[in-house]
Amino acid sequence: MAFDQRFLEELRQRIPLHSIISRKVKVARSGRHWKACCPFHGEKTPSFYIYDDHFHCYGCGVHGDVISFVMQNEGRTFNEAVTELAALAGIEVPEQTPQQKQRQEQQHNLYELMAAAHEYYLSEFQTNKAKIARDYLLDRGITPQTIRHFGLCWSGDGRGGLIQYLRSKEYSLEMIGEAGLLRKQADGQWGGELFFNRVMYPICDRRGRVIAFGGRIIGEGQPKYLNSPETPLFSKRRILFGLNHLSSVFSRKDIDPLFNTILVVEGYMDVIALYQAGFHGAVAPLGTALTQDQLALLWRVSSQPVLSFDGDSAGRRAMLHAAEEALPILTPEQTLNFITLPEGEDPDSFIQNKGVNAFLEIIRHKLSPSEILYNLSVDAMTNRSPEQRAALRKRLTSIAEQIKDKNLAKEYRKVLLDRFYEQFYSKNKQSNYQSPYGKKQNDKFNEHLMRPVFQKDQVEYQRMCILIALLIYCPRIISSVEDALCRLDLPEELSKLREILLDFPLDCDNINSYLQERNMIEVTKKILSHSNLTLINHNNYDKINDFGLFEKQWWHYYGWLNIHELENQVTQAQQDWINCPDEEHQRTLIARLNALDAVKRGEIDV
Ligand code: UTP
Ligand code: MN
Repeated sequence: MAFDQRFLEELRQRIPLHSIISRKVKVARSGRHWKACCPFHGEKTPSFYIYDDHFHCYGCGVHGDVISFVMQNEGRTFNEAVTELAALAGIEVPEQTPQQKQRQEQQHNLYELMAAAHEYYLSEFQTNKAKIARDYLLDRGITPQTIRHFGLCWSGDGRGGLIQYLRSKEYSLEMIGEAGLLRKQADGQWGGELFFNRVMYPICDRRGRVIAFGGRIIGEGQPKYLNSPETPLFSKRRILFGLNHLSSVFSRKDIDPLFNTILVVEGYMDVIALYQAGFHGAVAPLGTALTQDQLALLWRVSSQPVLSFDGDSAGRRAMLHAAEEALPILTPEQTLNFITLPEGEDPDSFIQNKGVNAFLEIIRHKLSPSEILYNLSVDAMTNRSPEQRAALRKRLTSIAEQIKDKNLAKEYRKVLLDRFYEQFYSKNKQSNYQSPYGKKQNDKFNEHLMRPVFQKDQVEYQRMCILIALLIYCPRIISSVEDALCRLDLPEELSKLREILLDFPLDCDNINSYLQERNMIEVTKKILSHSNLTLINHNNYDKINDFGLFEKQWWHYYGWLNIHELENQVTQAQQDWINCPDEEHQRTLIARLNALDAVKRGEIDV
């Protein structure tokens, strides 16, 4: 049954996602979100985050909303999940209108018609005349098993056999045409069969129902591939070839996870060859560039699908286009990666020529959008003149500005400009320019990001120490400052301690032994002494329950490091408090507001 979108939206809004998830695992507040140990993969420290409208696991990558959680975790169908959730929320599942019913019936018949057409093409594939097609596929290295798995077949000669077969099953010419299997004549009447003398590649929806076909000519000729036109079942911009095979990726556990990478490649044959080589996560758009709808489909199964491109100049252009197209909709949980194949190779030919291990190596060296955009922008420079540098710098900032997610945009700006300065202003000229695709360059890049900043500014360093020290004195505030804490660019030792503090279990009450177990006592002592905070006895932190005060202090020092972010955090806290005016939100808001006021008044110490 098809549900009305507005009804589904209401359902998603009415049911707090964390309450459904808490039926399965223990969830704990984490700042303005929730976190838990992932119910999909075994783990001891939580990397499963629950936001207002979706969940995301930074460990295994599962991702979804309340409906898909019930489907995935409780093994329900979409209909069952919706019905169950509607009952929980106390809202009625809306009746369908007669038009909706009729449309659904018509679609239902079209699915059956397409299945029947596929049956016909499969039987044609077994005839003597189709030996040429069978040989063609076998010659290309496709095994009979793979042929069966993808339902590859033969169109026949197109002289009416398909029409006759479908008419015998009582489908009208009108319907056969509507399913996209006939040519349309100039006078608008349906003509003969669209596909003849072609190897047929069924295109399926997510549930594996055939909704269209691609047909390849054998040998030379135009067009090489002929695809079904748009029909009520098939919209090429919203579907991907291979989508129906993706589910097997989630059930394969005892395998190098790289084989489960969600990969976007260019052609039918690439998807098929990759599948045969063990990569079950490959899909391809249908002769067009990847659309935002298609990306959204992929993000439902993976937080960072990998896009594959040719190494030639057309491939680079396509890669740039894809990266730029995706920029506005990237978020911390929804991103992309890129791989490039050597010039002249597609994944199909690459695997045949170089083998599976070489392809695994390529996936291992995937690059992020920021790396791709930086590399391609630098490659576009013809010289190193001030004009070109200024243009590059401007371009890099404008790349970051395309991203709608504010936090991510900020990070992009920082990463891109840092790299720009590193490359063009670094004193160490030797590090200046290497092939952007070389691994060395990336290591250099990472090194740069991890470079300690404390020699530069002692005051700043002390403030960072204070922030970490306050968390050690009062770990209960960690969860409400977590978001801002993660955004600080900390020198290495502090950053390491931050990671460990972020993992401090909420129900544990002995931070000393927690740090000791992790060999952090020496570092902690050093940081505490740098912080100059001696007001509170370190061992007494648990006797202090007025953590609103700690929170205010924390934000105060934070404000001195990054007032804009503190302002953002105040706005966010106001929003949260309006949405849910409970005590905790009130405390959080007041702490941030007081701190902001103090910083604006110029108070240096608390
Ligand atoms: P390619 O020409 O790279 O196809 O086009 P391929 O899959 O490598 O084909 P083989 O290996 O020669 O058999 C990539 C994709 O572009 C679309 C198809 O979806 C194809 O898989 N395409 C290509 C068309 O729709 N029509 C065409 O005429 C050519
Ligand atoms: Mn090819």
